[in-house]
Amino acid sequence: MRIETAFDSRGTFGHLVESRVNRLVVPLACLYQPIKERPDLPPIQYDPVLCTRNNCRAILNPLCQVDYRAKLWVCNFCFQRNPLSSSIWRHIEQHQPAELMPMFSTIEYTITRAQCLPPIYLYVVDTCMDDEELGALKDSLQMSLSTEGCSKSYVFRGTKDLTAKQIQEMLGIGKVPVGPQQMGQQPGQPLRPGQPQQAPVSPASRFLQPVSNCDMSLTDLIGELQRDPWPVHQGKRPLRSTGTALSIAIGLLECTYPNTGARVMLFVGGPCSQGPGQVVNDDLKQPIRSHHDIQKDNAKYMKKAIKHYDHLAMRVATNGHCVDIYSCALDQTGLMEMKQCCNSTGGHMVMGDSFNSSLFKQTFQRVFAKDQKNELKMAFNGTLEVKCSRELKGLKPWCPIYDVKISIIDILVQGGIGSCVSLNVKGPLVSDTEIGMGNTVQWKMCTLTPSATIALFFEVVNQHSAPIPQGGRGCIQFITQYQHASGQRRIRVTTVARNWADASSNIHHISAGFDQEAAAVIMARMAVYRAESDDSPDVLRWVDRMLIRLK
Ligand SMILES: *[C@@H]1O[C@H](CO)[C@@H](O)[C@H](O)[C@H]1NC(C)=O
Ligand SMILES: *[C@@H]1O[C@H](CO)[C@@H](O)[C@H](O)[C@H]1NC(C)=O
Ligand SMILES: *[C@@H]1O[C@H](CO)[C@@H](O)[C@H](O)[C@H]1NC(C)=O
Ligand SMILES: [Zn+2]
Repeated sequence: MRIETAFDSRGTFGHLVESRVNRLVVPLACLYQPIKERPDLPPIQYDPVLCTRNNCRAILNPLCQVDYRAKLWVCNFCFQRNPLSSSIWRHIEQHQPAELMPMFSTIEYTITRAQCLPPIYLYVVDTCMDDEELGALKDSLQMSLSTEGCSKSYVFRGTKDLTAKQIQEMLGIGKVPVGPQQMGQQPGQPLRPGQPQQAPVSPASRFLQPVSNCDMSLTDLIGELQRDPWPVHQGKRPLRSTGTALSIAIGLLECTYPNTGARVMLFVGGPCSQGPGQVVNDDLKQPIRSHHDIQKDNAKYMKKAIKHYDHLAMRVATNGHCVDIYSCALDQTGLMEMKQCCNSTGGHMVMGDSFNSSLFKQTFQRVFAKDQKNELKMAFNGTLEVKCSRELKGLKPWCPIYDVKISIIDILVQGGIGSCVSLNVKGPLVSDTEIGMGNTVQWKMCTLTPSATIALFFEVVNQHSAPIPQGGRGCIQFITQYQHASGQRRIRVTTVARNWADASSNIHHISAGFDQEAAAVIMARMAVYRAESDDSPDVLRWVDRMLIRLK
């Protein structure tokens, strides 16, 4: 895992004493790719070893001191002395475990005792399209299954929103009890395509099934999808209920598989023209809101629609599911109103002219790209946690390398910017100054690709402007728990340490390690983030000022 610290990538954290804080144009930050492809990582099939201090729980890593005589390890985040349990001890005695080897500052654990849940894909298809468009879309959908009918369909009123509970009652389904044989998935088996699997027994299985159990009927079902038969009169738009359809899909997953990897894939061929989420009416004489209307606050349906989709986005992110939107139409479809559904969950948003375009077809195929092990390059239900060292005042640690006077320098977490939502986990490590989504040390990433990157911001606090300790280091640990495409539960851990450097005497150490590329990306993310929450000219002025100071 390559971790780029904007301020420094070679070995020093720019430590700045109070009076010099203003010199810090780019905040201390890093770009982290939680599930970057790393074929070199050793397969580890046991649970990580945690620090026993309750408010620490950092994971054993190569920077920890291990006392082989006393059978202890010392946490490099809180200096807790942790006993080595007999099983770990046996393991360490026999062969030095990978998590203690300096070359594995990043390591991944597969939690074999956790149940294996295959990810769920729920397709929501707009059928108000002409035959060519629908035909092309159906081809792509069938290809995504790469095999060859549920014969009953349920029709919902498109103008009325339904809660998860109502959907549950109407469809006669319940929350799926979590058991070891869930959906018949064996550990390590990818769900798609066409693997023999046991039939699930829950009532939800009437709607959600392993592809292999229903591939024939699913292919038939897609093949039989007909253009919406409702007549569309001259001068009218089709009546589309995209907002309700999406809400029903989200509700269905919410009441069956909450907190399990799932993606809702929405395919739209035009704007929602009725019910919740409506962005235009069905009269063609009324054009869809333009950029100008939005600026002049003259877009009639916009605010209400945004409210609907923002609420859905919050629900779907809370459930740990994600939403992809594929919009193909010559006219606008109202993506601006729907964007939060993708933004909060890491889902894809793809806009094209036609489902028969290579843009759509190739993009859609790439979503199902596989790695060397023939596994999908996507992960689900991820949680990223950041831990930082706090070198508490007056603490007399046992650890020899820290047996100098301990400084009082803390690293605090200011926030994160990426396709995630805050999990609002506060604690002593949370900084008062917020950048991006702050006030937390944990973020939810409902779906992840190997290239997904989160920007994380840190603050270095020197409580008493104490002198920088010689040889002192600050440490950060990134812990990502996620559901692998194979259904396995995995934990990826990266631990890094950087030396402290005093900006007043050692500025060259800091500037030598400054990573320009990372800094440019981080500043761009900050600018975009600000521009979204505040569209006043202040943002522009801020960017100008930053550019001048940065140069
Ligand atoms: C898609 O477009 C191609 C031409 O680019 C055409 O030959 C083909 O019939 C179209 N597909 C459908 C389903 O209409
Ligand atoms: C999904 O993530 C949550 C934590 O965010 C966790 O409690 C839950 O067990 C995860 N689900 C699965 C199936 O791993
Ligand atoms: C994405 O979501 C974050 C918070 O969840 C928000 O601050 C940001 O403005 C959103 N971006 C877009 C493009 O909607
Ligand atoms: Zn600890």
